[in-house]
Amino acid sequence: MAATLGFVGLGAMGGRMARRLLDAGHPVLGYNRTASRAKGLVDAGMRAAASPRAVAEGADVVFSMVTDTDALQAVARGPEGIVAGLRPGTVYVEMSTVSPAATRALGAEVAGRGAAMLDAPVSGSVATLEAGQLSFMVGGEAAALERVRPYLLAIGPTITHVGPLGLAATMKIATNLGLAVQMLAFSEAVCLAEKAGIARERAVETLLRSVIASPMVKYRGPFVLGMPAEAWFDVGMMQKDLRLALDLGRAVGVTLPSTALSHEWLAAARGLGLADHDFAVVFDVLAELSGLPPSKKSGAT
Ligand SMILES: NC(=O)c1ccc[n+]([C@@H]2O[C@H](COP(=O)([O-])OP(=O)(O)OC[C@H]3O[C@@H](n4cnc5c(N)ncnc54)[C@H](OP(=O)(O)O)[C@@H]3O)[C@@H](O)[C@H]2O)c1
Repeated sequence: MAATLGFVGLGAMGGRMARRLLDAGHPVLGYNRTASRAKGLVDAGMRAAASPRAVAEGADVVFSMVTDTDALQAVARGPEGIVAGLRPGTVYVEMSTVSPAATRALGAEVAGRGAAMLDAPVSGSVATLEAGQLSFMVGGEAAALERVRPYLLAIGPTITHVGPLGLAATMKIATNLGLAVQMLAFSEAVCLAEKAGIARERAVETLLRSVIASPMVKYRGPFVLGMPAEAWFDVGMMQKDLRLALDLGRAVGVTLPSTALSHEWLAAARGLGLADHDFAVVFDVLAELSGLPPSKKSGAT
């Protein structure tokens, strides 16, 4: 009989992941705090559960994908949480970008239930995910990874086993600080070029053809010309990841000056009322201070 896959947290990322699992023919039992957000998935064949615990009780493998460490505690712990419902021999795959220490603490509780836990945060965006190109970093026992590998591959093609539980979350946090730092540097370059006489469109086009055009700069750089109506990764989410990096830096004794700076520029974006936009809106803060017009917003002329 086909394994039942449980999925808790059906937001921008989790919802699209669950959809890919359904599209690959896997039975999915899902839960989202805001049930209405899962309607499209139910229409596509997902069975809806009443609680995270009910998902775990009915699944052979459980995935979770929620906002932050607090959200993870909310869905994983307590009488209605995932851990309470895990059956011996099952695997719990936690994919949110959250604290490595909290992940390890949860792992000990999962082991107490006779189940195995992996941390499997992802690198990419909703667009990368929809294109089937998401990358996983995985922490935990290799044997548990082998049991879930086919399901991860249904979501994305690249899996890197980083080490024991918690180290994938650590690697993800180290990876993500570069998103904000690169976007800040890109924004400075566009502002400098534009103020010195190069049209913004031409500056963006040239930068995207240059050696600084990382995959992230390639898909997010054009946002300084026009922000997406719905943020791919908003200011608050980016600040959350930068704070995870700063906390980790303090814990292990590493200085992260450009991470701290990027966090503060995003705080300025928040102060200017731009918090709901994609974090590429950091460009607008620099543009404002440089006497340049902001990026175009959806609906604005
Ligand atoms: N978006 C990206 O490009 C991207 C890329 C890589 C990694 N990530 C990471 O993926 C994770 C999810 O991001 P996302 O973009 O999918 O966010 P999202 O669209 O805001 O979805 C967040 C999910 O968490 C749930 N949630 C939040 N607080 C909760 C709580 N207290 N109790 C129960 N459920 C709660 C939400 O439920 P409701 O629907 O009820 O609010 C929703 O299902 C984050 O850790 C993020 O850093 C995102």
